[in-house]
Amino acid sequence: MNQRSIEDLLAAMWRDYTDMNPHAERIAKLFAARGEKVANDHIALRTFNLPRVGIDVLASAFVRSGYQARGAYTFPEKRLIAKHYEAPGLPKVFISELQVERFDPGVQDIISGLVEEMEVSLPGRQDFCLSGRPWKLGFDVYERLRESSEYAAWVAAFGFRPNHFTVLVNELKTFDSLQAVNGFLEAEGFALNDAGGKIKGSPAVLLEQSSVLANNIDVPFDDGVHRIPGCYYEFARRYPGPDGELYQGFVAASADRIFESTDRGQ
Ligand code: NI
Repeated sequence: MNQRSIEDLLAAMWRDYTDMNPHAERIAKLFAARGEKVANDHIALRTFNLPRVGIDVLASAFVRSGYQARGAYTFPEKRLIAKHYEAPGLPKVFISELQVERFDPGVQDIISGLVEEMEVSLPGRQDFCLSGRPWKLGFDVYERLRESSEYAAWVAAFGFRPNHFTVLVNELKTFDSLQAVNGFLEAEGFALNDAGGKIKGSPAVLLEQSSVLANNIDVPFDDGVHRIPGCYYEFARRYPGPDGELYQGFVAASADRIFESTDRGQ
């Protein structure tokens, strides 16, 4: 197959994300209407830690294009680990994976069964990271996974595609704080993820983050279409570290609560 340039791959990921989550595109357009040019801080991907689909597999298209692994993070409570990748002049890529072996045998069997359904050649494709769901899924199985892990259920339902993009607030000219961005979004009718407060992190940890909650979207299951939480849009403001450069890493305690932006509302 044709190898797309990394810029083309990132653009295709944005199209996949906004096609499925029009609220993200609406927010991008609201910023554009203020004369803002939105810079993307990072794209987040989710997967399972099974050998065929783990972080390193999902990262390979980016690594082949010059991305390098930088930070590694653990989220013990959610049974996740993550790594982030950087390349000069491009958005960072944050990839997390569920530690499948830490779940009960029933959940492990469901997840390994899904991954075994996947066509063998798929993970080798450059566009694996936006290939969507490569297995059949009943809504009852989705619900069963959700009892153990909202994250597991999200990956089962959506497969391999961007979970979120992130506006780099530092590059916005008409907002001087993340608080101001949040206020603007709320005035426009968007609901923010309030888990752990609307702003996760602080200048002291060199990173502040917020996110709108994922919209519920129609997703086809084996037994018909169901409305479930899709993807969210994130906002990040970075602060300079002791070296004077903007901190480029992530803060596990903040990301831990950001993951909850795809949890089902009460
Ligand atoms: Ni993020």
